[in-house]
Amino acid sequence: MAKRTAATLLLLLVCAIAGLQASATATANQDISALRGLMGYMENLPSGWGRSNDPCGSEPWEGVTCSGTRVTELKLYNMGLRGKLSGDIAALTALRTLDLSYNNDLGGQVTPDIGNLQQLEALILVSCSFSGTIPSEIGKLTQLTFLALNSNQFIGNIPASLGSLFKLSWLDLADNQLSGSLPVSNGSVPGLDQLVNTKHFHLNKNRLSGPIPEKLFSSNMRMIHLLLDRNKLDGTIPASIGTVQTLKIIRLDNNLLGGPVPSSINNLTSLHVLNLANNDLIGPMPNLTGLNSLNIVDLSNNSFDPSEAPAWISEIENVTTLAIESGRLRGQVPQKLFSFPRLQQVILKNNSFNGTLDMGSNISEQLQVVNLESNALTSVALSSSYNNSIFLGGNPVCSNINLLGTNYCSLPQKVSPIYSTGLSNCGGKSCSTNNSCSHPYEGIMFFRAPYFRDLRNETAFQLLEKSIWEQYGPNLGSMSLQNPFFDNDSYLEVHLVLCPLNGTYFSVKDILENLDLSSNMYTAPQVYGPFYFGAFPYSFPGVSRTYVGLIVGLVVGCAVLVIGLASAGFYAFRQKKRAKKAIEMSNPFATWEASFEDSGAAPQLKGARFFSFEELKKCTNNFPEINVIGSGGYGKVYRGMLVDGRMVAIKRSKVGSSQGGLEFKTEIELLSRVHHKNLVDLVGFCFQQGERMLIYEYVPNGTLRESLAGMLSSTV
Ligand SMILES: *[C@@H]1O[C@H](CO)[C@@H](O)[C@H](O)[C@H]1NC(C)=O
Ligand SMILES: *[C@@H]1O[C@H](CO)[C@@H](O)[C@H](O)[C@H]1NC(C)=O
Ligand SMILES: *[C@@H]1O[C@H](CO)[C@@H](O)[C@H](O)[C@H]1NC(C)=O
Ligand SMILES: *[C@@H]1O[C@H](CO)[C@@H](O)[C@H](O)[C@H]1NC(C)=O
Ligand SMILES: *[C@@H]1O[C@H](CO)[C@@H](O)[C@H](O)[C@H]1NC(C)=O
Ligand SMILES: *[C@@H]1O[C@H](CO)[C@@H](O)[C@H](O)[C@H]1NC(C)=O
Ligand SMILES: *[C@@H]1O[C@H](CO)[C@@H](O)[C@H](O)[C@H]1NC(C)=O
Ligand SMILES: *[C@@H]1O[C@H](CO)[C@@H](O)[C@H](O)[C@H]1NC(C)=O
Ligand SMILES: *[C@@H]1O[C@H](CO)[C@@H](O)[C@H](O)[C@H]1NC(C)=O
Ligand SMILES: *[C@@H]1O[C@H](CO)[C@@H](O)[C@H](O)[C@H]1NC(C)=O
Ligand SMILES: *[C@@H]1O[C@H](CO)[C@@H](O)[C@H](O)[C@H]1NC(C)=O
Ligand SMILES: *[C@@H]1O[C@H](CO)[C@@H](O)[C@H](O)[C@H]1NC(C)=O
Repeated sequence: MAKRTAATLLLLLVCAIAGLQASATATANQDISALRGLMGYMENLPSGWGRSNDPCGSEPWEGVTCSGTRVTELKLYNMGLRGKLSGDIAALTALRTLDLSYNNDLGGQVTPDIGNLQQLEALILVSCSFSGTIPSEIGKLTQLTFLALNSNQFIGNIPASLGSLFKLSWLDLADNQLSGSLPVSNGSVPGLDQLVNTKHFHLNKNRLSGPIPEKLFSSNMRMIHLLLDRNKLDGTIPASIGTVQTLKIIRLDNNLLGGPVPSSINNLTSLHVLNLANNDLIGPMPNLTGLNSLNIVDLSNNSFDPSEAPAWISEIENVTTLAIESGRLRGQVPQKLFSFPRLQQVILKNNSFNGTLDMGSNISEQLQVVNLESNALTSVALSSSYNNSIFLGGNPVCSNINLLGTNYCSLPQKVSPIYSTGLSNCGGKSCSTNNSCSHPYEGIMFFRAPYFRDLRNETAFQLLEKSIWEQYGPNLGSMSLQNPFFDNDSYLEVHLVLCPLNGTYFSVKDILENLDLSSNMYTAPQVYGPFYFGAFPYSFPGVSRTYVGLIVGLVVGCAVLVIGLASAGFYAFRQKKRAKKAIEMSNPFATWEASFEDSGAAPQLKGARFFSFEELKKCTNNFPEINVIGSGGYGKVYRGMLVDGRMVAIKRSKVGSSQGGLEFKTEIELLSRVHHKNLVDLVGFCFQQGERMLIYEYVPNGTLRESLAGMLSSTV
């Protein structure tokens, strides 16, 4: 009795330990089946997906991070994923980060079930093909701090429910096709005005319409970047905007805004960028007195009252660009402006400045362009200390014969960008001028409101370079910045090229662990303002990117085959081109064939090789009766001669034999390992065009009978 109790206890103990171990290593079943569910709708997942049973185990699935038994992070940016994000995602209830950015062929609607991910802190789907409306269920994700859905094809309204995301710091819905008005709270209905902790409101490049609600802004907001440019917003700029004293960047340009600019705007003393261009604003020229941190001011193409140049133009000492095109300004061009040391560009085209243009002798060393075309200037007093561009075409002064020898009166030439990293210093390493690696990780950095406009001064780019290097350098061989230019949206585009530390390629792991550019973990120097990165698709080195749906099917339906493929076929798998995948799936020998082609031997077959049907037809002279050296219920044995002169015996099964491909394969594996003095060696096999053939060494002397006996006893 005691013995039995002890044994039972021991058994229980063993079970308990096993159970403990299982629970300590295994991922929650809920998460495994969710990931497998996702695989059914996404192609091109990294090769480790589905290979092991435990996504968080010793062979973790790429891009999956776990904590305990739960999946907490899913990062698969720029993996070339195709397909959809299925509702299975909803079961990953411990997920904190979901980043599927830069998968251009990943799209469809975002499932409303995403609202189940109650722990989610970052939802990042930059530059994919998601469409349909933004599900209002995202408003349930109250832990969210980072929401980036920019550069997709979302339509419909901005869900009011987003107002419930009280922890949100970054809201980027830019570059979609969103329409309707900006939602604000009303009674129990939430709205964007409640996002008091949100620093970044990036809603630019959509089709938003209606007025900017007075209620949107309040003094308890911590907003720093307000990007509403390139929409269809109308109405007036609400006076309440002046209460958000944290604002550094306001872009309201390229809308249909009307009415006067509220005077409260001069409360915004932290403002660096103010762009109100291309609206229908009226009334007096805005009074920006006191906004002395301003770097960029663009008030072009509105309908302000005619006036002299406002006084503040002579006070904004940090200005880099002043643009008031078509501003109905008249009188003297203010001289003081040209002395501000950071000044790079002055665009005062199509105004009514008259008299003499006198820029004085104290002129900013950084000044590159002065555009005063189409004004009423009658003379120019130029100091020899300024040698850069001035454009005066369309002024009376250009009919003055004395200026004909100068180029002031010609049309402005488009200044081509000149910067490309020289052999400059990337935090101690030299950056190469050309892509020294054949497979760099590349993309465009879009800076939506930089504090400067001149691209000729390398200092700013070296600053950027250095900061990128400090963040990513330890994992890079070299980097470079190329071809900066301002695009038609006045966004600064810079081509970023990153080269791997070793070898010519980045691995999937390198990219997913070290080159995170979508989640704002890297912030550019302040003068660059907010940016987003648009990655170019990356082609990994011949890594097998299988159609995962098929693999799932195989796992479920044909476990044995998968084990065979995984152990024997992995090497071959990596080598094969995608085009052959479908064939591989239906032919259990494909991986053998592949490795024969590549290296001449299948790893698990000792000396046996694959023969094509055509090859065997040739070496038997088309299987004539005369070459038959034996026959039975299974089929016939032929004599043949290989190209190298070796004689073989070919056992050809009857077409339609009941043996399955897998059994046939198993038999070949077995025979190839058996070497017995009474058995001839297996030379190879053929499994093609419905044929199943085994090719043996041909032994013409007395042992043949025994050999044949051995051969024929196997019931092919
Ligand atoms: C708030 O909701 C009420 C009832 O739906 C509506 O009548 C009112 O116009 C709304 N107010 C605003 C500011 O949208
Ligand atoms: C300007 O800021 C001050 C101080 O925060 C505030 O009292 C005042 O109401 C603001 N003025 C406007 C017009 O918003
Ligand atoms: C602009 O604002 C400043 C300070 O608020 C004020 O002193 C000045 O008179 C204003 N200028 C005009 C032209 O209204
Ligand atoms: C101008 O810029 C410099 C350097 O960024 C800064 O120290 C200074 O405070 C700025 N001036 C104003 C008026 O903001
Ligand atoms: C102002 O409008 C003109 C004519 O439409 C356009 O060519 C120019 O680019 C606009 N200026 C700015 C700063 O947007
Ligand atoms: C020049 O400015 C006037 C307003 O002062 C505007 O009506 C006109 O369209 C502008 N011309 C161009 C070519 O931008
Ligand atoms: C040139 O102008 C700047 C800014 O207005 C001023 O700080 C500087 O003292 C001036 N230099 C001379 C030589 O007048
Ligand atoms: C410039 O134009 C104003 C009217 O806008 C006029 O009073 C002034 O005399 C003109 N100045 C010169 C030098 O032509
Ligand atoms: C380039 O920019 C730096 C910093 O902004 C400035 O100190 C330097 O004078 C500029 N160089 C030229 C040639 O404008
Ligand atoms: C402009 O050109 C003149 C004559 O070519 C030269 O003496 C002067 O130093 C130049 N000024 C600058 C700021 O480069
Ligand atoms: C740039 O590329 C050329 C050939 O492609 C090579 O000879 C040269 O060494 C490269 N320069 C650098 C700095 O990598
Ligand atoms: C380069 O080496 C690092 C560390 O040894 C490794 O993590 C990384 O995967 C390697 N990259 C390539 C492309 O081989």
